[in-house]
Amino acid sequence: MQYRQLGASNLAVSRIGCGTWALGGRGWGAHNERQARAALEACLEHGINFFDTAPVYGFGRSEQVLGEVLRPVRSRVIIATKCGLAWNDSGRVHHDLSREGLRRDLDASLRRLQTDYIDLYQIHWPDRRNPLEETLDELAGFQRSGAVRRIGVCNFSAQQLREARGLAPVVSIQQPYNLLQQDEAREVLPLCREHTLGFIAYSPLAQGVLAGEMAAAARPGVRDVRRRNPLYRDRERYEQAVRYAAGLPRPAAHAALRFLLDQPGVTCVLVGMTKRAHVETNIAALDCRGARDPADC
Ligand SMILES: NC(=O)c1ccc[n+]([C@@H]2O[C@H](COP(=O)([O-])OP(=O)(O)OC[C@H]3O[C@@H](n4cnc5c(N)ncnc54)[C@H](OP(=O)(O)O)[C@@H]3O)[C@@H](O)[C@H]2O)c1
Repeated sequence: MQYRQLGASNLAVSRIGCGTWALGGRGWGAHNERQARAALEACLEHGINFFDTAPVYGFGRSEQVLGEVLRPVRSRVIIATKCGLAWNDSGRVHHDLSREGLRRDLDASLRRLQTDYIDLYQIHWPDRRNPLEETLDELAGFQRSGAVRRIGVCNFSAQQLREARGLAPVVSIQQPYNLLQQDEAREVLPLCREHTLGFIAYSPLAQGVLAGEMAAAARPGVRDVRRRNPLYRDRERYEQAVRYAAGLPRPAAHAALRFLLDQPGVTCVLVGMTKRAHVETNIAALDCRGARDPADC
């Protein structure tokens, strides 16, 4: 495994990280928790030390399962979770970056993850309804208390990231970035390089499209979070994307991941992996080094 410092922090994260949205067991098609746990074990065997989750993934379930699996190796892994998305009894999700909301989120995450510190605590989505000063002041307090080691953000524009850096010691940003979706990174990556901020690329396989295996989620009537993804919503775009992925060298995941690993400034490529076989395939992308063109993988 290869590792990189996350921005100016002392966290050395594996270049391929494990995303655990689907581990929550909701909205990602047929879920097999036994297989998903085996995928986490495979990550550990292969030296993947960076695990990303969020309270909202399966309404706590992703954090809970991750906590169980990582407990025996807690000191060797880097756990990233998030704050600011809450839900009510009927499962309706809303933004809450208030001080009380943040304290509630942190306590619940620590309990579910069975740990007394979070390595990287990230604002899940910006929310203008709450002053960013107040949110970051509270997160900085968590860091001082030792409950949080580092602060990160997700889905911030370059302007929002600049503002956040001026308010608290933010070390990283998570953005969607893949061969088919490059706009967000185009704006933020240069800023990360300039200020030594960690850049974590999420949805690197465009939620499966770039692995060429996700047709089920695109069928009308299927309840799946991927149907919110414009690639799945727009039939014409979806078919175009699948044709593009089919044209990539096999396995397509290698080309898609290698492209990101080679982008200057990308610290970690965060892939959702729900089966042991995903892990084995995806880490092999690290070996086709120096490919200038995805087709060289
Ligand atoms: N901060 C944020 O707002 C945010 C937003 C989105 C995601 N994320 C994080 O980023 C992580 C990754 O993003 P993502 O899950 O949206 O998308 P992704 O990594 O692009 O796609 C994940 C899906 O691709 C399939 N897959 C993975 N490896 C494969 C392989 N080798 N061959 C075939 N299929 C493969 C799996 O689908 P199946 O399980 O159906 O087989 C997997 O669930 C998330 O889990 C989450 O931790 C963060």
